Amino acid sequence: NIKACLFDLDGVIVDTAVYHYKAWKRLANEMGFDFTEHQNEQLKGVSRMASLELILGWGNVTNKTEAEKLELATRKNDWYTEMIGQMTPAEILPGAREFVQACRDAGLKTAIGSASKNTPTILAKLELLPLFDAVVDGNSVSIPKPDPEVFLKGAEELNVEPSACVVFEDALAGIEAAINGGMKTVGIGSPDMLTRADMVVSGLDKMTLDILDKL
Ligand code: BG6
Ligand code: MG
Repeated sequence: NIKACLFDLDGVIVDTAVYHYKAWKRLANEMGFDFTEHQNEQLKGVSRMASLELILGWGNVTNKTEAEKLELATRKNDWYTEMIGQMTPAEILPGAREFVQACRDAGLKTAIGSASKNTPTILAKLELLPLFDAVVDGNSVSIPKPDPEVFLKGAEELNVEPSACVVFEDALAGIEAAINGGMKTVGIGSPDMLTRADMVVSGLDKMTLDILDKL
């Protein structure tokens, strides 16, 4: 009954969190404060501007205008794109390419559903574009996860009903987005964090097509 697999990008296909962290940390440091890797966990799956709001909050920075916030986010993104520009296919997470390919070989449709506006760049650097029938990302979506928009758009582009879709997500907000869209969910990470997922695996290297039948 599963006809399509929709994948979040950051944290599922590739580990960009470390680059996001470095760039946000540099921005915070320039403003005179710091934040921990533990705090960085809260930024996973969160949009660029929402991430900035959280970080400004951690630094008790309350005096920024909207224009200044846009400038700060752009500065961070410039550093971030510099780093992801150096990425190679070697940075694809273990088992990711193999599992997506296995889905396709089995006749399932595949799509990316990501909040990131840098999705096209990252997929190109990783040479993964040919593996996806549809790419829905931060450039085409207006309401952030946990709203289901990103995944519903993906399902629509694949022409598959939501109940026949499985979403692979590493962020709680992403799991909730999929549930809100009426889709099945596989959490990537730890079961303690992703409590609402139908099932959780540590990575796509632990996924097989047989597991999908059990959802
Ligand atoms: C998500 C990441 O996939 O994309 C977040 O998990 C990030 O950390 C968000 O903030 C937006 O990314 P970008 O590339 O548009 O700044
Ligand atoms: Mg993610």
